[in-house]
Amino acid sequence: MAVLAALVMVLLVAACAPGSKTEEQASGGAASGASAQQEFLPTHGPYCQGKKTNESLADMTVGFSQSEEETNPFRSTESDSIRSAAKQNGVKLLYANAQSQEPKQLSDIRDLISRGADALIVAPLLESGLQDAFTAAREAGVPVVLIDRQTAGTPCKDYITNIQSNFVRQGQVAAQEIAKLTNNKAKIAVLEGTPGASVTIDRTKGFEDAIKGESGMDIVASQTGNFVRADGQQVMEQLIQANPNINAVYAQNDEMAIGAITALKSAGKTPGKDVKIIGIDGTQDATQAIITGDMNATVTTNPRFGPEAFKVLKEYLAGKKVPQNIRVKDELVTKENAQQYLKKGSY
Ligand code: AHR
Repeated sequence: MAVLAALVMVLLVAACAPGSKTEEQASGGAASGASAQQEFLPTHGPYCQGKKTNESLADMTVGFSQSEEETNPFRSTESDSIRSAAKQNGVKLLYANAQSQEPKQLSDIRDLISRGADALIVAPLLESGLQDAFTAAREAGVPVVLIDRQTAGTPCKDYITNIQSNFVRQGQVAAQEIAKLTNNKAKIAVLEGTPGASVTIDRTKGFEDAIKGESGMDIVASQTGNFVRADGQQVMEQLIQANPNINAVYAQNDEMAIGAITALKSAGKTPGKDVKIIGIDGTQDATQAIITGDMNATVTTNPRFGPEAFKVLKEYLAGKKVPQNIRVKDELVTKENAQQYLKKGSY
């Protein structure tokens, strides 16, 4: 437990240092609930210098490239947020959905440019593969705002900002919570997200770093469930059969956590009790599952990117400097604050 204890110590020390805040403190603490609107950690640069245009945002057409299907509430809430912010800004919005296919996202972005997009908001699927699309956007003089995940590219050249959660930190928080719930004795199944996505890489890294060297905290199985509920269920059915001693599940999103609950119940287990379950996102289904006791916790990821994406775009087009990295505040939701979070922030 030394490493996890040290991590907690580091966070506590950071909390005591003048002018510094842990992520939970910056978000108002786990007990304070979340507002529906995104909140952000302080930004300190680096920045991209804006390019002044005489056109107003209201005269423009903005293309939105969504990465995955909207059966996941994270995706539908994200798209709704972009649509309603576009409407508020009087912008004509073009929409494309890559349906989890990287080549489609590349062609979607090219298509949005040829359909007349003056600016782009892109939710990247994978952590690389969009370079040609960025080049096409640059050649057409179209600024790109990245939301929700990172992808390879040069800031200020390929994209003007990247707005997302701190996924490494989310993985660390999930590990700490599992350690707490199992008294540092966990046989863990990990349900990973989309292979090759920056969010999967970071959530895995944060979690693994936090349990490194902890003799009582073992990952006994780790497999992708593609961020999809049905896949999470199917994978969990196999994992629990092969490893009946699993007593904790780290699902890298809530959809897979809900799938895992179904699988564990069919296998005769009591999720939330003999198998602790932590998810990530903060969906309504997960929050309800925490309230009923089927699930133990989730780390929020607020998908309401619309207002901030358009604000940055407006500032950039007014010739102002914009931060290259903007980090959304997240919080841990447990039985203690689930009711409050359900009313204020879940989706
Ligand atoms: O990039 C954010 C992640 O992608 C969300 O946690 C997940 O639900 C989505 O598929």
